[in-house]
Amino acid sequence: MELGLKNKVGIITGASRGIGAETARVLAREGCSLVLAARDAAELARRVEEARDAGGQALAFPVDLCTPASAAAMVEAAVAKYGHFDFIVANAGAAKMGDILDLTDDDWHGGFELKFFGHVRLIKAAWPHLKARRGSIVLIAGAAGRTPGSTGLVTGAINSALFNLNKGLATRGIADGIQVNAISPGAVRTDRYIVRLRKAAQSNNITEAEAERRVVAEHGVTRVGEPADIAGMISFVLSRHGNLLQGAVIDMDGGKTKGV
Ligand SMILES: NC(=O)c1ccc[n+]([C@@H]2O[C@H](COP(=O)([O-])OP(=O)(O)OC[C@H]3O[C@@H](n4cnc5c(N)ncnc54)[C@H](OP(=O)(O)O)[C@@H]3O)[C@@H](O)[C@H]2O)c1
Repeated sequence: MELGLKNKVGIITGASRGIGAETARVLAREGCSLVLAARDAAELARRVEEARDAGGQALAFPVDLCTPASAAAMVEAAVAKYGHFDFIVANAGAAKMGDILDLTDDDWHGGFELKFFGHVRLIKAAWPHLKARRGSIVLIAGAAGRTPGSTGLVTGAINSALFNLNKGLATRGIADGIQVNAISPGAVRTDRYIVRLRKAAQSNNITEAEAERRVVAEHGVTRVGEPADIAGMISFVLSRHGNLLQGAVIDMDGGKTKGV
């Protein structure tokens, strides 16, 4: 399927690893020019090489997205390098898991600072540029936003907030010609999942394959997602084929979300 993404320019946050890194690979293969943001400069440099090898181009932008000035700086870097940009994929996220009695104020603040306020600041800085290009915003949320769990309270609350932001911005986006959507992954095989799976396997004295079978059963899903599943959906939303999507929350979760 021809996606029509060649020569599109975009910013991806959380691009050093996991879903963001795979999205960078996929979009580079489509011929996009990218700004890749995360803290780990060495990993970002590898992503830039991969993008070049895949036929796209990328600029590494090492930054802590919890720093308020990072959003405007990222946007300036994209404009300085490419002259304009067409999309942002707000993907960076990390939130402490744990029981309510163990979570500290800093755990709550840290999660929101990165994945909620970080996204809000980037959207605000990017909006006029996206308006000029009739561009697109993709928010990477998460299934805990609609299916809360007692140990995923921070991530659940952030993802719920993102769903609300998505809908509100989508309405404004209609007026300004900006496409806004959210993708909500369930469990995806990135570093954090692999670490958790290993721990579960060790503490229950079972193989990782068995631990994964238990995850699938417990979540009531078809399978665990791969970063490529989410990256593929991001590309589709950004492509001409996804153009009618506006304000959608796309559950890429193997059926984890049971509610309507
Ligand atoms: N994997 C899952 O099962 C799953 C499920 C539901 C939702 N999600 C969501 O999908 C998104 C990506 O998840 P993932 O599994 O790919 O995560 P990951 O492998 O842990 O990668 C997170 C990315 O965010 C970056 N990041 C973290 N803190 C940062 C900071 N302060 N400043 C800048 N960048 C920062 C990391 O880079 P550095 O460390 O280099 O900064 C990394 O590139 C997240 O929003 C997550 O909540 C994931």
